Amino acid sequence: MWWSSSLRCPVCGATTSKQSNSLFCEGARRHCFDFAAEGYVNLAGAKATGGGDDATLIAARTAFLGGGYYEPFAARVAELLSAYSKGQTVVDAGCGEGYYTCRLAGEGFRCYGFDLSKRGVRAAAKRAVREGADAFFAVAGIYTLPLQDASVDAVVSLFAPVAEQEFLRVLKPGGILLVAGAGRNHLLSLKRVLYEVSHENEPRADLPVSMTELARETLSFSMELDSKAIQSLFAMTPYYYRTSRQGQERLATCERLTCEAEMDIFIYRKS
Ligand SMILES: C[S@@+](CC[C@H](N)C(=O)[O-])C[C@H]1O[C@@H](n2cnc3c(N)ncnc32)[C@H](O)[C@@H]1O
Ligand SMILES: [Zn+2]
Repeated sequence: MWWSSSLRCPVCGATTSKQSNSLFCEGARRHCFDFAAEGYVNLAGAKATGGGDDATLIAARTAFLGGGYYEPFAARVAELLSAYSKGQTVVDAGCGEGYYTCRLAGEGFRCYGFDLSKRGVRAAAKRAVREGADAFFAVAGIYTLPLQDASVDAVVSLFAPVAEQEFLRVLKPGGILLVAGAGRNHLLSLKRVLYEVSHENEPRADLPVSMTELARETLSFSMELDSKAIQSLFAMTPYYYRTSRQGQERLATCERLTCEAEMDIFIYRKS
């Protein structure tokens, strides 16, 4: 198992190994974590999340991403990672339902996907089976990754929080961090339907401060959405929880929408 070499026990920090359907630590207490039927393991214990909103959101994200609308972004992430990373081991920190993790695994990267959402990780593990992707998925928080120090070549943080100090801990010297999130005009046309007044997105405030920035770019492309895609996209954004009924009704009458996607991508190196 390529993935067991970098893992560490979330309780005592010892190395781990897989025996039958469990992950055992090699510490004195032999902590044990069972794999779920879908093939993921819960390394976050009671910290795992899994509310009802979570289910709506994950279903929406699965439907939308499955439509291939963000494929140009997924392709660019894979391309940049191939260009900048010297090695193959990648952590998808806040992997959600594993769309990008499996995509990167398909490109030959050895991927770990971690997320605190149990439903997300369960969907990710199912996706990996469906797509034949050799990725390792675990329920785990990105601020306390179940990985040894300096054990991975790259971390990707896609539309997820940046846990800079933890990413620095698990990256090998010279390792790469790729951060991507909504650019200024991301989904502006969707917001124009939802709100009387729509604003551009603010630049993100949680970018790394103690890593060397190697590159940054903005990727923009246009998406032709039908009513089903419009609704899925809406349900996977934060706007879903903060839109008036009038805004939702306006969107419900929308049969087609040309909508811009705009992602800011940043690449850093651990010196
Ligand atoms: C907007 S979603 C993006 C998911 C995926 N990267 C994608 O782009 O499809 C953000 C994800 O970060 C996860 N997340 C947020 N805080 C986290 C934490 N402290 N530890 C692990 N995952 C976290 C959420 O559960 C969610 O799945
Ligand atoms: Zn242990």
